Amino acid sequence: MADLQGKVALVTGATNGIGKVTALELAKMGAATVIVGRNPEKTRQTIEEIQQVSGNPQVDGIIADLSLMAQVRQAAEAFQHKYDRLDVLVNNAGVGASQRRITSEGYEHMFALNHLSYFLLTNLLLDLIKVSAPARIVNVSSDAHRPATLDFDNLQSERDWGRAGFKAYGRSKLMNILFTRELARRLAGTQVTANAVHPGVVATGIWRGAGGVFGSVVGAVAPLFMRTPEEGAQTSIYVATSPEVRGLTGMYFSDCRPVQPSPAALNDRAAQRLWEVSVAMTGLSEMAAV
Ligand SMILES: NC(=O)c1ccc[n+]([C@@H]2O[C@H](COP(=O)([O-])OP(=O)(O)OC[C@H]3O[C@@H](n4cnc5c(N)ncnc54)[C@H](OP(=O)(O)O)[C@@H]3O)[C@@H](O)[C@H]2O)c1
Repeated sequence: MADLQGKVALVTGATNGIGKVTALELAKMGAATVIVGRNPEKTRQTIEEIQQVSGNPQVDGIIADLSLMAQVRQAAEAFQHKYDRLDVLVNNAGVGASQRRITSEGYEHMFALNHLSYFLLTNLLLDLIKVSAPARIVNVSSDAHRPATLDFDNLQSERDWGRAGFKAYGRSKLMNILFTRELARRLAGTQVTANAVHPGVVATGIWRGAGGVFGSVVGAVAPLFMRTPEEGAQTSIYVATSPEVRGLTGMYFSDCRPVQPSPAALNDRAAQRLWEVSVAMTGLSEMAAV
């Protein structure tokens, strides 16, 4: 187990599933651990639980609905107000939505949460991460990216949403890898690494989003054939903390080892273009971005 005494970690979507286990393990390793949750009561309970189980009192929370970029900005400000370093950032909050829905800011909800929030939160905290180097950024993606391709005229899946939203979900997870690779390229020489991970197929709350008969069936049989959240969190924890991956960046990990993502995820021009489009959408100036 790595020693994270004196380090600060931030984990999004840490009130459930893979993120909750990730935050718990980082707290056990001694990191001051900050979790981002959207539900104040659930976040408070999670903080207490992690404090009790880890024996680490330095567990803190920030409340934000990360599908809204205004709240991503507030979350980053709240973090910067309280902490002067960030050693480990795990962008984990995600959803698998069966129905297409637009946020009050005008973005497709799954695209906003699964991609834009990773992009904006990371960039807003990047100065703090750089001064903490060597530091690590972990973006939780998925092998659901494999059948996906990116059409810049359909980033928000107005067309081809797919059965139960799987195509749109796969696109958002492809964006996680493209973002990670472009971020790693821009961070070259800073001793800040950025990697994406696939946790496996894990019995968590994410399958609730599938909805309908499919969601009910999957929810009922999930524990029989899926990984537990404890198993599913292992690759995130490994990439966030293990000395074995020190210095490795721009990679995609599954089962605690680097694997090749899909050809679409290796498209450098698409990665750069996605970066530029995301800067414009989030109102992040090019100056502020790496
Ligand atoms: N489970 C799998 O099989 C699987 C496979 C591949 C990749 N992944 C990825 O793993 C990551 C974690 O998912 P999980 O399986 O652990 O799912 P989960 O149990 O549903 O947990 C998702 C977390 O994200 C939070 N969240 C959802 N919407 C949010 C919002 N608008 N603002 C802030 N937080 C929000 C949830 O908060 P609440 O507690 O309030 O709901 C929860 O803490 C996701 O990025 C997912 O794409 C999962």
